[in-house]
Amino acid sequence: MNILGIETSCDDTSVAVIKAEARKLRVVSCVTASQILIHQKTAGVVPEVAAREHAATIMPTLVAALKKAGLELKNISALAVTAGPGLATALLVGVETARALNFATGIPLFGVNHIAGHLASCWLGEKAPKLPALALVVSGGHTELLWLVKNPKNLGWLTIRLIGKTRDDAAGEAFDKTAKLLGLPYPGGPEIAKLAKKGRPVIDLPRPMLNGDNFEFSFAGLKTSVMYYLRNKPRLNFQTKANLAASVQQAIVETLIGKTLKAAEKLKPQSVLLAGGVAANEKLRDNLQNALTKNGFELSLAPHAYTTDNGAMIAAAGYFQYLNQQRSSWQTLKINPVWELGK
Ligand code: KG4
Ligand code: ZN
Repeated sequence: MNILGIETSCDDTSVAVIKAEARKLRVVSCVTASQILIHQKTAGVVPEVAAREHAATIMPTLVAALKKAGLELKNISALAVTAGPGLATALLVGVETARALNFATGIPLFGVNHIAGHLASCWLGEKAPKLPALALVVSGGHTELLWLVKNPKNLGWLTIRLIGKTRDDAAGEAFDKTAKLLGLPYPGGPEIAKLAKKGRPVIDLPRPMLNGDNFEFSFAGLKTSVMYYLRNKPRLNFQTKANLAASVQQAIVETLIGKTLKAAEKLKPQSVLLAGGVAANEKLRDNLQNALTKNGFELSLAPHAYTTDNGAMIAAAGYFQYLNQQRSSWQTLKINPVWELGK
C-alpha cells in the first residue's frame, strides 16, 4: 500500500510517498522545499513568513512527489499530515491541503503528531526496530525520552508513553542559540558541528541535571554560560571559537547520552531509538552507539536523510495509525499546535 505524507509544521514543506511492504517501509519519493535561506535573513523562523512560503510551495511539492513516485492520487491508499505540535499558521497549510484531498478523493486521512513522525523515521532504515523501545527525540523544539510499546500484530507501536522531557530549551534550540552567540548562521546545529571538528572541548560548560534522579533535561543554562564566557571577549580568534563550538557540542551530547543510558538501564528496552533534527549530529550518533553497545543495548538510528523534518516520516507514522485504526476525516481533523505525545 502507498501512503502520502505531508509535513508543514515549521520551516520545511515536505511531501513523500512511502510503500508499506511485508516487514519494511520503503520511501518511494520525498520532495522537500527548504526555507532555510529565507529564515537566515531573520536568524530564525518568523511564523507568518513560514506559513506564506508553505502556501506557495505545497501544491508544487505535492505534484513533484507524486510525479517522482510515478503515481497518481488514485494509487494512494492513505493520506497522513502533521496536525501538531508546531507553528499554527504553518500547520494549517498542510492540514487544509490534506482535508481538501480527503474531501475530493475519499482517501482515508490520518492526523499525525510530529514527534510520532520523528519516531517513525527509525522504521525507514533497513531493519525495523525491536520493541518495546526507549526513544530519544531531539529536535529544534523538543527533547524527549519516550517508551514505545509493541503492537503484537505488526511491525509498529501500539502506545507511546512520555518518560521525560526538557524543562526549558530543546537540544536543537541550545545548538541554535549558542551558534547565534558565536555569529554563526541559522540553523546553528550543523554549523556548530562543522566548527567543532576544528576545535577541542576544553572549555568548561555545565552538564545540566545530568546527575539528577529523573529523566528531565534543561538546556537554557548552557546558553547563559556561553554568554558569560563571551562577555569580556569582544573578539574571539578562530581557535577559541572552534574550541567553544566543540565544548558546546560535547556538553549537549554528554547530557543526552547520560540521561538516555540511565533510562535504558532502568527500563531495559529491546532497542534504543534516536530521531529528530539533532540526530543528524555525527558525534551524538557515534558516541551514543558506543555507549549503548558497551552497556549491551541495541541502537536503531533514523537514516541520516530522514532526521530533519520530512514527509516520509509523517507517512510512516500515518501508516502505524492506519494499522491502529486511528483515523480522521476532513470533518474532524484540526490542528493542535501544542499536542503533547504520550501523556
Ligand atoms: O527536527 P527538526 O528538523 O525540526 C524540528 O522539529 O524542530 O530539527 C531541527 C533542529 C535545529 O535546531 C537544528 O539546528 C538541529 O536540528 N540540527 C542539528 C544538526 N542538524 C540539524 N543539530 C546538531 N547537529 C547537526 N548536525
Ligand atoms: Zn521536527
